Amino acid sequence: MNYFIITGTSRGLGQAIAEQLISPEHYLFCISREKNNELLGKGKNIEYFEFDLNNVEHIEELMTTIISSIDTSSVKGIFLVNNAAVIAPVAFVDSCDVKDITTNITVNLLAPITLTSCFIRLTDEIDVNKRILNISSSSAKHLHPGMSLYSATKAGLDVFTQCVGLEQNTSAAPVKIVSIWPGMIDTTLQEEARSQSKASFPSAEIFSMVKERGMLTTPEETAAQIIDYLFKEDIENGEIIDIYDYSKINGLQP
Ligand SMILES: NC(=O)c1ccc[n+]([C@@H]2O[C@H](COP(=O)([O-])OP(=O)(O)OC[C@H]3O[C@@H](n4cnc5c(N)ncnc54)[C@H](OP(=O)(O)O)[C@@H]3O)[C@@H](O)[C@H]2O)c1
Repeated sequence: MNYFIITGTSRGLGQAIAEQLISPEHYLFCISREKNNELLGKGKNIEYFEFDLNNVEHIEELMTTIISSIDTSSVKGIFLVNNAAVIAPVAFVDSCDVKDITTNITVNLLAPITLTSCFIRLTDEIDVNKRILNISSSSAKHLHPGMSLYSATKAGLDVFTQCVGLEQNTSAAPVKIVSIWPGMIDTTLQEEARSQSKASFPSAEIFSMVKERGMLTTPEETAAQIIDYLFKEDIENGEIIDIYDYSKINGLQP
């Protein structure tokens, strides 16, 4: 049995990843604030945790519950997909309130860091294929005024991934960890970016144009590419992988 822990499965990319992983040989642990009943209706081996990743202090308890339920006599692989994220607040940093700043950094960076730490520690004695995919973004490099927090957290996630990759290269039962830039996907997160006022987010019109010109990929298309990286043999520990097909956007850098 392969076990998958996936965050942000109530919609968008996380839902598509979970849906495509449903199989009798796979057991899914899905995490988001809102339970996805549609997903639960599609398979038997799915357990849902309605959990707010802002509650970082309860992540260890959550991960202990999950990892201790794994049948170590039949486990083949254990996978963590840190997918959940928020784009808000999309505004110049001087007009962001402290609560929104804290939520962004907590969900996008502190939670995946804590989940990764617990995953590595709690699976230490289980010597099977272990992998962490951190869903990052090209926003770590391509910057827009109004997206400082989102970009900073994704850049932080990439550096964290690279450093943990180095640590795991010296481990007895190493975990493979990579960061993935999935490109622009037609999800709620994209909608949130393009629906901002031009005053608070001047790049909103770029995001609208990308949608109007059909340059977005579907969550299903991107999920299939991401799943390849769950099983791909030749990946370098700590690698940052950009899977977007830039020919779709004719040189635009969203
Ligand atoms: N869409 C794009 O163009 C794009 C581009 C580059 C990278 N990405 C990355 O792809 C990943 C998925 O994004 P998406 O586009 O699918 O976004 P989305 O449609 O907005 O979905 C975000 C998911 O994160 C979950 N989430 C948010 N806050 C949470 C919290 N406090 N606790 C638990 N779960 C929480 C949401 O569930 P609940 O609200 O139910 O909690 C939801 O399932 C993100 O890491 C994003 O940065 C997306």
